[in-house]
Amino acid sequence: MLAPLLLMVSMSAAPSARVLYETKCLYCHSAVVTEAAVRTPAQWKKVVASMRRKAPLLIARGEARQLVSYLVTTLKLVPPPSSKPRAATVVLNSPAVRETAPPVEPPADSEGLPGAADDATSTEPSDENDRFEGHATELIERRCSKCHTLSRVYTKLDTLDRSLVTLRRMRLKPGSGISATDAATIERFLRTQFDTR
Ligand code: HEC
Ligand code: HEC
Repeated sequence: MLAPLLLMVSMSAAPSARVLYETKCLYCHSAVVTEAAVRTPAQWKKVVASMRRKAPLLIARGEARQLVSYLVTTLKLVPPPSSKPRAATVVLNSPAVRETAPPVEPPADSEGLPGAADDATSTEPSDENDRFEGHATELIERRCSKCHTLSRVYTKLDTLDRSLVTLRRMRLKPGSGISATDAATIERFLRTQFDTR
């Protein structure tokens, strides 16, 4: 009884990475384009950032991070791991080398340092922020598709000023269905999406 319930709860919490990928990255082109080549994680970060610049209202900031992770970790669109030169360590520790070279100290376990871990987590946006972004992009999807296609929304609004002015203008159109609360939520979202952090 409990297991299906838990599953339902976890499913409603956030769209799966797959759904996110299909709705965001495959909005303008097919997977043939996105999956044509492998890239390093740093290169994927750049590609996704450049795609986000084309449509910041479609690909929210936190979503870009989740999409990079999906491309790298789930789809594994990365170069095959290069074989590490582990042989070097073996040679240094062999009796022949030990006579001339001092023993090699293992490097400090930097990953275990509390500072490193704190850094990694503090630069990551919170789950709460991801949920807000998800909520706001869904709201835009619902409210802004009433009178025209979303492609107008996604491809024309690429600066904060233009987005805010357009939001106000659209809200005032007769029968827009965009409440003051909707507009405030969308505006709050827009203000977090364009600063150059
Ligand atoms: C708003 C439309 C749009 C969205 C959304 C979009 N793309 Fe693109 N993408 C393009 C266009 C247009 C091109 C053609 C090349 C260019 O303009 O950069 C392209 C090209 C690409 C390329 C080829 C780049 C190259 O240099 O060969 C890759 C890879 C790619 N997109 C991946 C993605 C991924 C991953 C996402 C999701 C994070 C995404 N795209 C979302 C419009 C989009
Ligand atoms: C009540 C109908 C309606 C709703 C709802 C609506 N729009 Fe529009 N939108 C229009 C009409 C009509 C036009 C074309 C005339 C114009 O630009 O005023 C338009 C044009 C636009 C344009 C093109 C403007 C330009 O300068 O080229 C953008 C961008 C846009 N809408 C974004 C949005 C966004 C974002 C939302 C949701 C917050 C939204 N629209 C909701 C009716 C609507």
